[in-house]
Amino acid sequence: MSCSGEVMGRDVDRFDLEGRRVPEELVNDVIRLMARHRSVRAYRPDPLPEGLLEVLVTAAQSASTSSNLQAYSIVAVEDAEKRRLLAEWSKNPFVAQAPLFLAFCPDLHRLERVAQRQGYEMQSAGLEMFIVAVVDAALAAQNLALAAESLGLGICYIGGLRNELEKVAELLRLPPGTFGLFGMTVGYPADAPRVRHRLPLEVVLHREEYSDAGLDEALGRYDAVTAESGIYAKRRVAVEDAREPEVYGWLEHTARRLARPSASRLHMRERLERLGWVF
Ligand SMILES: Cc1cc2nc3c(=O)[nH]c(=O)nc-3n(C[C@H](O)[C@H](O)[C@H](O)COP(=O)(O)O)c2cc1C
Repeated sequence: MSCSGEVMGRDVDRFDLEGRRVPEELVNDVIRLMARHRSVRAYRPDPLPEGLLEVLVTAAQSASTSSNLQAYSIVAVEDAEKRRLLAEWSKNPFVAQAPLFLAFCPDLHRLERVAQRQGYEMQSAGLEMFIVAVVDAALAAQNLALAAESLGLGICYIGGLRNELEKVAELLRLPPGTFGLFGMTVGYPADAPRVRHRLPLEVVLHREEYSDAGLDEALGRYDAVTAESGIYAKRRVAVEDAREPEVYGWLEHTARRLARPSASRLHMRERLERLGWVF
């Protein structure tokens, strides 16, 4: 596995990074682009070109959508004061720096309007409709992310948008039956972050049936690689009574995160119910 930034004059992608041997003729430009993804957390102040937003949202809308319901909305925020607030609430300072912030919102509000308009009462709600809307929003977001990256832009998802569900709903005037699922910063990158290692393929891919065989060994390998890559060097999760691990890699980082629920994301069900969601 290589950690250098370039292979023979082009950026390192996941195939290079993980040393994955695949038939070269199957790896086209689209797949190489996907395999070069890295979250960007520093942006140049350059303005975005006219018409970009419409291009990106068209790409987002081209994603598959459950029953063609299109159960999501995207709120584009360029206003500096709003981005400052969103940066503060989400605890991601670069939200104020990126010229564009997109809030992805699962949306049953519009569908309720549709039912009413046609003279029906909306009976579809509950966890299934919540899943439908969340999945739709996420698929649209990833299409948009890829389109942005194909144009040389950088993006970062902002799950921190959910820290202050209620304040975000007020700031963006989100109607009941919607909520800010996550945000996304968009802009020209001011640095070139490394492509991050992912779990070994055999951990994620199960053939014909689920299997844990070889999991511990593969996790150990991944842990060593992530520790060595230095991504957690300045980002250790603090937990009470933490033992000092031999290596601080993905395993310890992830386990600590799981042992310490995020204080700002508690009681999500009740909070979403207050925003008009029915489970
Ligand atoms: C739904 C979602 C929410 C995320 N929220 C944040 C966030 O609030 N702040 C942040 O810096 N990165 C956030 N990320 C980015 C992840 O940390 C990042 O994708 C992961 O560490 C892998 O790194 P990479 O994207 O560079 O490959 C989020 C990613 C996703 C998919």
